[in-house]
Amino acid sequence: MKAARFLILGAAFVIGATTSIAAVAQDKEKVIADRQDLMKKQVRDWIAIRNYLAGNADQPVAVAAADALTKSLPTVSNYFPPGTAGPTPDGKWGTKPEVWTEHDKFLAAVKKVSEQVAALDTAVKSGDKAKVEVAFKDLDGCNACHNAFRAKLQ
Ligand code: HEC
Repeated sequence: MKAARFLILGAAFVIGATTSIAAVAQDKEKVIADRQDLMKKQVRDWIAIRNYLAGNADQPVAVAAADALTKSLPTVSNYFPPGTAGPTPDGKWGTKPEVWTEHDKFLAAVKKVSEQVAALDTAVKSGDKAKVEVAFKDLDGCNACHNAFRAKLQ
């Protein structure tokens, strides 16, 4: 009887553990999908401002994009909880472990680019394209973070 009881407890434990592993895997997929959505949205906003500079978009479009970037950039680190290194669904990209092992540097990168987009936002709102040009060139924080923390897997 003791052995049977042990077996039942063991089975319950295994079922419990499998469910929580599945839940974690699902969470990770969702985090990665949300992260990709965020990054894709950011690049669309970046393109909108580039179009404005090129004379292909009106100022209100650029203001909306710059406002969106100013709001989203400071939240970037929320999209990188530990254990979500990747790969992305296409298997091509992931994050470098330094996102977590050198978390201070990662947070500093987020802060830097947040300041850059805030400056860009101010410039876009001024309507002075020469200023926008300068602030847009100064916005190198996206690439800086990608070079330091984005891993090409394939
Ligand atoms: C603090 C770091 C950091 C900052 C800042 C950052 N990114 Fe990313 N970005 C990443 C990492 C890491 C990945 C790859 C990991 C992933 O997609 O899961 C990525 C992926 C991307 C991708 C690819 C998404 C896909 O389809 O897989 C795009 C596009 C992108 N970023 C655009 C931007 C733009 C534009 C900015 C600036 C406005 C920016 N990122 C700022 C870290 C950053």
